[in-house]
Amino acid sequence: MDTVIQVSPDKIKVLAHNQYDSSDHISPSTVPANPLDLFRQWFASVQGAVHEPEAMALSTVSLSGVPSTRIVHLKQVDSHGFVFYTNYNSRKSREMDANPYASLALYWREVHRQVRVIGRVEKVTKEESEAYFRDRPLGSKIGAWASNQSTVIAESELDQQIKIIEERFGVKEGGDQEVDIPLPNHWGGWRVIPNELEFWVGKPSRLHARVRYLRREDSPTEAPEWTIERLSP
Ligand SMILES: Cc1cc2nc3c(=O)[nH]c(=O)nc-3n(C[C@H](O)[C@H](O)[C@H](O)COP(=O)(O)O)c2cc1C
Repeated sequence: MDTVIQVSPDKIKVLAHNQYDSSDHISPSTVPANPLDLFRQWFASVQGAVHEPEAMALSTVSLSGVPSTRIVHLKQVDSHGFVFYTNYNSRKSREMDANPYASLALYWREVHRQVRVIGRVEKVTKEESEAYFRDRPLGSKIGAWASNQSTVIAESELDQQIKIIEERFGVKEGGDQEVDIPLPNHWGGWRVIPNELEFWVGKPSRLHARVRYLRREDSPTEAPEWTIERLSP
């Protein structure tokens, strides 16, 4: 295999020139009027073809204008927006509390497609978070209680916290699946309500196809209308 990454003590150089060559056509004149319909089509079509298609980069911005990005899992998409779950005291949540906007990017390498979603964020209802939390594996529920996400911790602190939580809820060694662990107050979902979506298809020589949907400001939130345009690659 050709060396595409050169690693030396003072530098890492990437020499790869990956080519994208999707045969898909995407054009403002042929895409659905509602971007969620196109997202639904795309997301359905990558099932089985793309590993972990729900992994997405989430960017938030602090009040002082400093951005930060991390990967989270998309858990639901509906006419209200794109939902993911996290700790409400984490860095991302604190940034969204202070500055309620976020940007998401999903990259599906195997099919040369990318989707970007930008919009306001709001917390999902407690009932929605409870319903999602109920279905999580036991270990993830304990983890949500035990981890003070984004804080600095000592080496053994997390293990100690897990033991404390297991004792508190009566979890036996080996994991008793019947234990009822409630939703922690500091944990739940966020919904990104899109004002803008971009659908990207990789083409040869970097001449990629891009279609952007912008929500018309005068259109009602519950039935948004969209301006659809082609963007230069
Ligand atoms: C594939 C993948 C999926 C992840 N999914 C989530 C998620 O759904 N929710 C979450 O809080 N963290 C998730 N994480 C961890 C986050 O990337 C991040 O480390 C964590 O949320 C803390 O981020 P923050 O300190 O910027 O708030 C995931 C990481 C990876 C690599």
